[in-house]
Amino acid sequence: MIIQPRTRGFICLTSHPEGCAQNVKNQIEYVKSKGLISNGPKKVLVIGASTGFGLASRISAAFGSNASTIGVFFEKPGTEGRPGTAGWYNSAAFEKQAHAAGLYAKSVNGDAFSDDIKKQVIDLIKEDLGQIDLVVYSLASPRRTHPKTGVNYASVLKPIGVPFSNKTVDFHTGVVSDITINPVEEQADIDNTIAVMGGEDWKFWIEDLKAAGVLATGCKTVAYSYIGPELTYPIYRNGTIGMAKNDLEATVPYLNNLLSDLEGVSYVSVNKALVTQSSSAIPVVPLYISLLYKVMKEKGIHEGCIEQMQRLFADRLYADKVVLDAEGRIRVDDWEMREDVQSEVQKLWDAVTTENIEAISDLVGYRKDFFNLFGFEFDAIDYNAESNELTTVESIK
Ligand code: NAI
Repeated sequence: MIIQPRTRGFICLTSHPEGCAQNVKNQIEYVKSKGLISNGPKKVLVIGASTGFGLASRISAAFGSNASTIGVFFEKPGTEGRPGTAGWYNSAAFEKQAHAAGLYAKSVNGDAFSDDIKKQVIDLIKEDLGQIDLVVYSLASPRRTHPKTGVNYASVLKPIGVPFSNKTVDFHTGVVSDITINPVEEQADIDNTIAVMGGEDWKFWIEDLKAAGVLATGCKTVAYSYIGPELTYPIYRNGTIGMAKNDLEATVPYLNNLLSDLEGVSYVSVNKALVTQSSSAIPVVPLYISLLYKVMKEKGIHEGCIEQMQRLFADRLYADKVVLDAEGRIRVDDWEMREDVQSEVQKLWDAVTTENIEAISDLVGYRKDFFNLFGFEFDAIDYNAESNELTTVESIK
C-alpha cells in the first residue's frame, strides 16, 4: 500500500509505518547521544506509551537507562487496505529496536481506564518483571468509561464563566482568525472533564499496583501537567482541562501517603507546550505553539517531547535532589516560561495576522511536527514507495 497523509482538521487519518519507525529511531538516537542516566529506572510501566510524552518517556527509560518497559496504550493495527494508527506503528518500531538492543519490552493494547487492562498489566509484571520501580502516567483521552460505575464521561475543552475570545490559526492554511469559545453551560461539563483527565485513574492504577505487591521499594510515579502563559489561561489552565489538571496535581499528596511505607514518591511534572495529537485539538494553542517555537528556536532552547523527557529523567526525576516549585511540582516548562521568552511571544501574538504569520511564526515547524506525528515528512522515507504494513507484533497483547 502507498500511504499519503489524509487530514481532517486537526486529525490525520493515515499513518506511515516506516515514517513512524523513523520518528522512533530519531528519538532513540537522541537519547543514546546523551549517555546513560546515573541511577535511572530499571523496570518501568508507561501508561499512554505510544505517542507524545509517554512514548518519549518509554524511550528515555529504555535507551537512557537500559530499563525493561511495559507500555499500555489504545491503538489500532492496520487492516487490509487501511493503515493502523501512528501509536501502533511507533510501538511496533520501539519494540523491535528495544529487542534488538537486548531490552525487555512488552505492551498491552486496550483501555487503560478499565479494571481488566489493569489486571492484565499486573499479571504481566508478576510473570516477567516481579516488581516495577517507575510508573509513568501519560494518558490523554477525550473520554473515559468509569471502571466501577460504567458511566461514560466525555471531556470538553471550554472556558469557565465567561466567553473567551482570541486569535487562533488553521495550521494547514495559515489563516489567522478571531474565535469566541462559549463557556461551559453546566457544572457537569467540568466534572466530566475531571473524571476523564483528572487524577482518579492514576490513583486507581497506583492503588491496584500496590495492592498486588508489584511496586518496588523506593518506586516513583510521575504524571504530566501543563500551565502555560496567561493568554491561554481561559482555554487551558482556568478552563475545564485546567480543572482536571488541578485534580491530577491534588492526587500527589494522596499517592505520597499511599506509597510512604514503600518509601515511594509521586510527582507531577509540568511539561512544555508541544505539538501532539492531543494539543493540536485545543483552539488557540497551535497559534501559541507556532510563536513559541519561533522564539525558542531563535534562542537555541527549543525542545521536542524527547528532549523534554530525557531532561526530565536525567536532570529532575533521577537527579541527586529533585527540585520542586512552591506547589510541589517538577518543572520542565522552565525554558518556555522564561520571562524573555514569554515577553517576545506576547509581542508576536499581538502582531500576528494571516498576512505575516509565515514570517513571524514557526508555522512551518508546527506543520512538520504535526505530520511527523503520523510518520510523514521525514526526508529518509520514500512516500511514493509501497509501505510494508506491520499488523501483528508478538510482544503487543
Ligand atoms: P498523546 O495524545 O500524544 O498521547 C496519549 C497517549 O494515551 C497515547 O499513548 C494513547 O494511546 C493513550 N491513550 C489514550 N486513551 C487511552 C485509553 N483509554 N487506554 C489506553 N491508552 C490510552 O498526548 P500527550 O500530549 O503526550 O499527553 C500526555 C500527557 O501530557 C497528558 O496528560 C497531557 O495533558 C500532558 N501534557 C501535554 C502537553 C502538550 O503540549 N502536548 C504539555 C504538557 C502536558
